Amino acid sequence: MNKSLASISEQVDFDKIRDDFPILKQEVNGHRLAYLDNGASSQMPVQVADRIDHYHRYEHSNVHRGIHTLSQRATDAYEETRGKIQTFINARLKDEIIYTTGTTDSINLVANSYGGQHLGKGDEIILTEMEHHANIVPWQMIAEKTGAVIKVVPVDDSGDLDMEAYKSMLSGKTKIVSVIHISNALGTINPVKEITELAHEVDAAVLIDGAQSAPHEVIDVQELDCDFYVFSAHKMCGPTGFGILYGKKEYLDNMPPYRGGGDMIDKVSFEETTYNVAPFKFEAGTPPIAAGIGLGTAVNYLSSIGMDAIADREHALVEYLVERLKTVPGLRLIGESEHRASVASFVFDHIHASDMGTLLDKRGIAVRTGHHCAQPIMRRFNVPATTRASLSFYNTEEDIDQLIDGIKYVKTFFE
Ligand code: ALA
Repeated sequence: MNKSLASISEQVDFDKIRDDFPILKQEVNGHRLAYLDNGASSQMPVQVADRIDHYHRYEHSNVHRGIHTLSQRATDAYEETRGKIQTFINARLKDEIIYTTGTTDSINLVANSYGGQHLGKGDEIILTEMEHHANIVPWQMIAEKTGAVIKVVPVDDSGDLDMEAYKSMLSGKTKIVSVIHISNALGTINPVKEITELAHEVDAAVLIDGAQSAPHEVIDVQELDCDFYVFSAHKMCGPTGFGILYGKKEYLDNMPPYRGGGDMIDKVSFEETTYNVAPFKFEAGTPPIAAGIGLGTAVNYLSSIGMDAIADREHALVEYLVERLKTVPGLRLIGESEHRASVASFVFDHIHASDMGTLLDKRGIAVRTGHHCAQPIMRRFNVPATTRASLSFYNTEEDIDQLIDGIKYVKTFFE
């Protein structure tokens, strides 16, 4: 049973928290902005924007390279984020946190490095029908190179995984299970702990795509016992161009580097090059330093509100959103799992999603329309596209009411 919005607001003043996001205070197309596209990207609080600005004004220098003070300041600030992420997801070790450019980059790294090393002809990779393209295409590419085969767990009419089908797919041939934690298209929260336990029974490695879960739920990678967990900074109040790959140390230590270049080496000669240790062997070249520092501040910001409070508020908000969407005649929800977080997708038979999105925008309502980089699940539900509202903790009942009024307004054009 979700807590009520009122009881959560007694503990945390979410109205005041909205003041940290000046972007939300503006009008768009002459209307109050209702920003409901947090699945694509969340907004950035002033604390994060100020920290990035401060870095550019007073600390900017390259990391890991300079003996001079500015370089050391930049390195300290950048490296501090690793420890903050370790705490945020309860990793055992700081060195289990690899910096990447985002979820997509993290999955490509694992597919190429771990997959390239462990997959052979006839080996199996298990994905699900609700994966984002970022958790499909890198596996297809490595499967093509290695001769591995992809198996896909089907999704039922509610938008839940068919766990019996999953169990029946697991065998000695299964080498990797890679699964989305919370579906960006349906909002379904998958039973990733159970999925991991079952995969481990056949000695398969497990990657969890946490792009839509790290910003919304308490994540404990030791409790989940997954081997890899990946997510992006820009969906959790941080900047674009930065992300995380968590990997268990025993895996990372044995994986080959994915990209070559500066910083990832131990010694280089034309005869032989040896590599740095994890995490650095996976971090070639000058990184997006400001973005890394910004993610550290974003994580502090989220933790100061409390991920429990954020999850409670968003569960109450999504319940309210779904309840209200169900009152709109002709609206069909795509994805009706009882285990849902932050996302609701819907369609109308006679209104194309892109018309819906364009007209909602005229009323100041930002939603995403299209296939949400998840074409297989659109095909499963036999729709080309949906309109998706995706929430963050700073959203309000007023945003949702504005969306419902907006949908009713759009409908008048098609009656
Ligand atoms: N994957 C992001 C989304 O779902 C971009 O919108």
